[in-house]
Amino acid sequence: MASITIRQLDEALKKKLRLRAARNGRSMEDEVRTLLREAADEIGGEIPQKAARPGKAASAPRRAPIPAAEGDRRVLLIVGGGIAAYKSLDLVRRLKERDIFVRCILTKAAQEFITPLSAGTITGERVFTDLFDPAHEFDVGHIRLARECDLIVVAPATADLMAKLAGGRADDLATAALLATSATVLLAPAMNPHMWSNKATQRNFAQLAADGFEFVGPNEGEMAEANERGVGRMAEPLEIAAVAERLLAPQTLALAGKHVLVTSGPTHEPIDPVRYIANRSSGKQGNAIALAAAQAGAHVTLISGPVNLLDPAGASVIKVETAREMLKAVERALPADVAIFAAAVADWRVANAGAQKIKKKAGQATPELPLVENPDILATIAKRKSQRPKLVIGFAAETENVVANAKAKLASKGCDWILANDVSPKTGIMGGDRNTITLVTATASENWPTQSKEGVARMLVERIAKEMARND
Ligand code: C5P
Repeated sequence: MASITIRQLDEALKKKLRLRAARNGRSMEDEVRTLLREAADEIGGEIPQKAARPGKAASAPRRAPIPAAEGDRRVLLIVGGGIAAYKSLDLVRRLKERDIFVRCILTKAAQEFITPLSAGTITGERVFTDLFDPAHEFDVGHIRLARECDLIVVAPATADLMAKLAGGRADDLATAALLATSATVLLAPAMNPHMWSNKATQRNFAQLAADGFEFVGPNEGEMAEANERGVGRMAEPLEIAAVAERLLAPQTLALAGKHVLVTSGPTHEPIDPVRYIANRSSGKQGNAIALAAAQAGAHVTLISGPVNLLDPAGASVIKVETAREMLKAVERALPADVAIFAAAVADWRVANAGAQKIKKKAGQATPELPLVENPDILATIAKRKSQRPKLVIGFAAETENVVANAKAKLASKGCDWILANDVSPKTGIMGGDRNTITLVTATASENWPTQSKEGVARMLVERIAKEMARND
C-alpha cells in the first residue's frame, strides 16, 4: 500500500493545510485524517468499480478526475491566449458530445481570458497550467499528458504559440507537451489579420505544415477589434470538432504500396540568362497533395518548379525550372500508379532564349520575343501507350465557364479526372491558402466546399484511395 507523509507534500499545499489545521485547532495530521474521513463519507465509503463516463450520467460534479476508459478517443486541448479562447469552452462541449475524452492545458496567457475553473467544470477533468508545479509533475507530468492522448488540438493557436512550435521551444507546459508528443497535432490559428499575413507567421505556418501539423482555419470574417475584417478568425468549434473527429478515425494507410507522382509550382522559361517568363503559382496545392499522399502511405515523387516552400515530409522531391525539364523528370519517374498534375506549366517559351543578357541600346527597337509552345506534360502522359498511370489527374485553373472548360479539357487531354477551380483575381485562390474545387470526371461533376489547400489534398487522396481500391 502506498504511503505519503506530510513532509512529501509541496510547500503550497503544506501552507494551506497548516492554516486550515490552525483555524480548526487541530494538528496537521489530525486535519489530514478529518479531510480523508470527509472524503470517504462523501463517496459512501465505497470505491466505485468503474466510474460513469463523463457526460453520460447526470451526476454531481466530481472531485477526483475519472481517467479515460480503454478505447476512449482522447484529446488534449491546449488553449492559447487569445480572445477566441472563450470559444474553446464550446469546443470542449462539441468534443464531449461526440463521446471524446478531453483534458485541457491552459497557457499562462489563456488564463487571462478563461479560468482553469471554467475549463475544469466543462471538461470534468483537472486542468493543467504549469510545467513546474510539483504536484502535477509528480502525478501527470508533461510527458504523460503528451502520451496519454490520441490527438492534440491547439485552439486558439496564437501567433506566439505557432512561432514557439515552429522553433521547437519548450518553455512552458503547453509547448513541452507539444514537443514531447507523437500524436497528431491540429492547430486552429486565431489572430489579427495583420499578424496572420505577417511574413514571420506565414514562415512559421509553412514550416509547421511541412512538419506535418494539421490546420483548420483561420477563417475570414469580423475580428474582435472594432471595424476589423480579414483572415484570422478561429474556425468555429463545430468545424474544429469535425476535423478532430476525422483525425481520430483509425488511420489506414490507404495508399500504401502505391507510387504517386505529383507536379507542382510554376515553371520558369528563360528569356536570357537573367530574365524569365513565370506565373503566380505558389506550389502550395501541389505540395499539400504530396504531403497528404505520403501521409496515406504512398511512395511520393514530387516534381516541383521554383517555389518558396519547404519540401513536404516523406516525399522525394525533384526540382526543375522549365516545362521541358519537368516533362523529362516526370517520364524518368514512371512507372507510377497515380499522376497528379498540379503544376502551372508555362504554355509557351521563348523560341531562342539569349545565351547572353539582352542589352538595352539607345535608339534600337525593343527586342522581339517569338514564342513556341511547350510540351503539354499532362496530355503527353495521359496519352501514353505504355506506362500510363492508372489514374491521371489534371487541374484546370479557369477565370470563366469553369466546369464547361474543365469538361472540354478532360476530353482533349485524355486524363481521368480534372480538379477545376476558379482563379479569377476576386477569389484570391492563386497564391492563397484556400481553394474551391469542382471534381470533373467522365461521368459527373461534384462541387467541393471551400476549404484549405490541405483539406483539398486530403479529400483528393481519400477519393484516389477509393478509386484504387475499386480497381485493384
Ligand atoms: O491547358 P491548361 O494549362 O489549362 O491545363 C492545366 C492542366 O494541364 C494542369 O493539370 C497542368 O498541370 C497541366 N499542364 C501540363 N503541361 C502544360 C500545360 C498544362 O502538364 N504544358
